Amino acid sequence: VTQFVPGLEGIVAAQTSISMVDGQNGRLLYRGYVIADLAERMSFEEVAHLLIFGELPTRAQLRDFSARMAKGRRLSPAAEAVLDALPADTDPMDVLRSAISVQGSSPHLRKPDAEQAVAYAAAVPVMLARFHRRRRGLPGLESRPELSHAANYLYLFDGKEPKPELARALDTYLVLLADHGMNASTFTARVIASTDSDLASSLTGALGALRGPAHGGAPGLVLDQLELIQTPAGAERWLREARTRKVRFMGFGHRVYRTYDPRARIFKEMARRLNPKFYALASEVEEHALRILEEEHPERPNATNVEFYSAGVLQAVGLPRDLFTATFAVARVAGWCAHVLEQVGHNRLIRPQSEYVGPPARSPKPIEQRG
Ligand SMILES: CC(C)(COP(=O)(O)OP(=O)(O)OC[C@H]1O[C@@H](n2cnc3c(N)ncnc32)[C@H](O)[C@@H]1OP(=O)(O)O)[C@@H](O)C(=O)NCCC(=O)NCCS
Repeated sequence: VTQFVPGLEGIVAAQTSISMVDGQNGRLLYRGYVIADLAERMSFEEVAHLLIFGELPTRAQLRDFSARMAKGRRLSPAAEAVLDALPADTDPMDVLRSAISVQGSSPHLRKPDAEQAVAYAAAVPVMLARFHRRRRGLPGLESRPELSHAANYLYLFDGKEPKPELARALDTYLVLLADHGMNASTFTARVIASTDSDLASSLTGALGALRGPAHGGAPGLVLDQLELIQTPAGAERWLREARTRKVRFMGFGHRVYRTYDPRARIFKEMARRLNPKFYALASEVEEHALRILEEEHPERPNATNVEFYSAGVLQAVGLPRDLFTATFAVARVAGWCAHVLEQVGHNRLIRPQSEYVGPPARSPKPIEQRG
């Protein structure tokens, strides 16, 4: 292809056996498994193993993997010092970017491997919880090795073992968000890996790409918008007026899905069950939003995306709103690592071209002649 395509839309930038996003039919597979089957039955640990190592673990492999994850729930002294030095109003995405960078610093460039992948996946929640407690003036808590990744994440916030229903909901959230084809943050991670760089660099780059509202920055904004809308009765008026100001509906539209996001379907049902107050408003807003989007662009279906109902699930689980995007990263770190390892496995430097549209060749004038 020699023609420029804005946003690389439709360009195939990698071959992957990790996940498949079928945007026309609203299907998502992780290594051949339909997402709904994994979401219902699997823990984040099982799915992280699937993504990173290629297969669901046997019982012995899961025991080993979970033990490695539990062991990885610790921070380097430098990462702890950085976390404790950050001002309390630091955005949690800045927190993660800084802490991962420091946790991964080493005197020599390290080639990414699965052991590091597991260690980073394990450490990310610990970073967020430590920061969160500190900004509230509370001491950090020790991880509980017998708790699952999801349950331990919640435990680290308030020192209480979470209700099984909520730990399970977060587990499902983490499974659903763990990977998603060649999204912007995964692409970033692979570009960095393709230069033979280290895993921490790929992850910090990916975090930077994730945080924008066009990618992972939307879930907190979904709640902000719902708060502005206030009541189901006021939904349509608010939405129509917002569109006159070109405001985008948070949690709608997607670059690849031309139909309902299969993850959104699962989150919708979870939000109905776990967060009825949110659901009452959100489902009404969704109905009007979909109608308005269809009216505006009948030729380009813009449907509900993963962020809309997952916001209600994260709220039900008890996570603060400003940690929603960072919690997306808790899940996606598994996918990023899997993609980095895949890239490293058959690497070719990712180095596309640009089309020059600047002035034709010309001679520089000396400063005296430039006025
Ligand atoms: C996700 C997103 C960035 C995809 O963008 P994209 O593939 O570049 O799509 P485009 O921006 O080209 O959108 C195509 C048309 O649909 C409209 N559209 C897309 N998403 C919309 C939304 N959420 N609200 C209102 N209109 C939307 C655009 O305004 C555009 O119409 P226009 O050309 O008349 O302005 C975009 O849908 C969006 O901004 N969504 C809101 C944020 C969000 O939910 N992010 C989480 C993504 S998982």
